[in-house]
Amino acid sequence: MIAARAVNHIGIAVRSLEAQRSFYEGVLGARFEGVEEVPDQKVRVAFYSLGPGDAPVRLEVLEPTSPDSPIAQFIEKRGEGLHHVAYTVDGIESRLAALKAGGVRLIDERPRPGAHGTRIAFLHPKASMGVLTELCEPPASHHSV
Ligand code: CO
Repeated sequence: MIAARAVNHIGIAVRSLEAQRSFYEGVLGARFEGVEEVPDQKVRVAFYSLGPGDAPVRLEVLEPTSPDSPIAQFIEKRGEGLHHVAYTVDGIESRLAALKAGGVRLIDERPRPGAHGTRIAFLHPKASMGVLTELCEPPASHHSV
């Protein structure tokens, strides 16, 4: 079991961060929190938040930086849209080991670097009803592992 503490963010694949910013700010009224490049995933990521400051809903908008980015391949196949749902977990290594031992298909058997100093890992979408599922461990909880 992943024992998620929260939905950490929702990932949305787009062709262009700039083209979509007016939607997130102007239509949704989300707060823009900046852009970060994640070379491991070959993406640029824009972060937005909505709702109360102590418990915001966070959106991670992903733009491919290369045609061989997993996000470019996703858009090619399925178009822009919902890409993944990320859950906040503690002890990501032991979660992954337990999932693997339980027969859950994983894309990542070990965590890799995500944005904002997080460590992330993806479950296989076939293990989760077609919705790509991300485990996300925030940097603050590293010491408790
Ligand atoms: Co994510």
